[in-house]
Amino acid sequence: MSAEPTPGPTPDADAAQPFVMARRAARMNPSIIREILKLTQRPGVISLAGGLPAAELFPVTVLREAADRVLRDTPHQALQYAPSEGHDPLREWVAAHLAAKGLPVSASQVLITTGSQQGLDLVGKVLIDAGSAVAVESPTYLGALQAFAPYEPRLVELKGDARGPLPGALAAARGARFAYLLPNYQNPGGGCVPAARRLALADAARDAGVPLVEDDPYGELWYDEPPPPPLAGRWPEGTVLLGSFSKVLVPGLRLGYVVAPPALGARLLQAKQACDLHTPGFNQRLVHEVIRTGFLDEHLPVVRARYRERRDAMQRALAAHLGAGWRWATPQGGMFFWLEGPPGLDTMESLARAVAQGVAYVPGIAFYPDADHAPRNRLRLSFVTVDPSAIEQGVARLAEALALGAGDRPAPVRVAPAATL
Ligand SMILES: Cc1ncc(COP(=O)(O)O)c(C=O)c1O
Repeated sequence: MSAEPTPGPTPDADAAQPFVMARRAARMNPSIIREILKLTQRPGVISLAGGLPAAELFPVTVLREAADRVLRDTPHQALQYAPSEGHDPLREWVAAHLAAKGLPVSASQVLITTGSQQGLDLVGKVLIDAGSAVAVESPTYLGALQAFAPYEPRLVELKGDARGPLPGALAAARGARFAYLLPNYQNPGGGCVPAARRLALADAARDAGVPLVEDDPYGELWYDEPPPPPLAGRWPEGTVLLGSFSKVLVPGLRLGYVVAPPALGARLLQAKQACDLHTPGFNQRLVHEVIRTGFLDEHLPVVRARYRERRDAMQRALAAHLGAGWRWATPQGGMFFWLEGPPGLDTMESLARAVAQGVAYVPGIAFYPDADHAPRNRLRLSFVTVDPSAIEQGVARLAEALALGAGDRPAPVRVAPAATL
């Protein structure tokens, strides 16, 4: 479960430097990720590790032309300090976009953030006291665990099944400051919570008085049919919804948003002011200039088609190269396959071997709130970053590295699309 608060400041290993680290510093950036990032940067390695959008789909010309217009028409406003809440036309766009999905929110509830990652940090800062319970899926988004960790929560794992977290688990989490949920194409699990389960989850959360933090960076990346409406629609007063432009447009402009009920929204705004005053106004105007006339309606089908092709390529490669004892669900959206290997496999231990073979992945234990008791035979593969031939080659190398690709290859065991394996 969560690490217990440690008693005092963390002495630094380097005695020559005078800085004494705050206790929370020791909770930041687990070394596992640093190691993986280092490894994936080696030349010749096909990285199926990071959740990086396909860079060749970035609409560079459209952005350049929009940047010219912003700098021509509103140069001083775009480059001046800006309101902490965000650029009003962009907030209005977000509100209209959510309304079209059946979530009526007012633009005044929308706080533009520096990526949705900042939204997670602000939520943690405003809602978590040291030792307070926070309910999370297991596995869940590593970046959320990192964002919450410095605030010293006591993490409570929500039990789930193939459809997502169990409503009964939310009832059991009574007293938690919030439950952090990823209903659309979970990272890392890939599952999408069905409509009926969403309603049951929101109702159970409301009955138990456990607020929801609904993180939705992947909802637009659907490959078969759009996901059901957000949980926030069922219990708007008790839900904070986080969204992002990273996966639908570009991640480098660092634009996301948080939609919160008014009292909480006011606190999140204060926390953001202390954090960065505001999200870059130029970036906000630039993105608004790009999307205001419906660019995403043309762009998203292109992204979906490309990612669907890559998902299918990875599905084929996994079926061809991985042997018996491997299980996975084909994701209906998002960016990841979540694999369960044979018992006895340790994906953390095998990573160095895989990198030596020229392929990188993220070992499953990175995504568990309680890494010490996590299953060690899971791993996450991203299918969006590289093209189908690299996917095929990467999966072939993976199978070889894990010593399970050669020889007799019975058909893999498949399981239905699932929130968790
Ligand atoms: C589930 C989830 N939430 C939030 C984020 C943060 O996204 P960003 O800060 O780029 O909006 C990510 C990034 O991969 C993610 O997977």
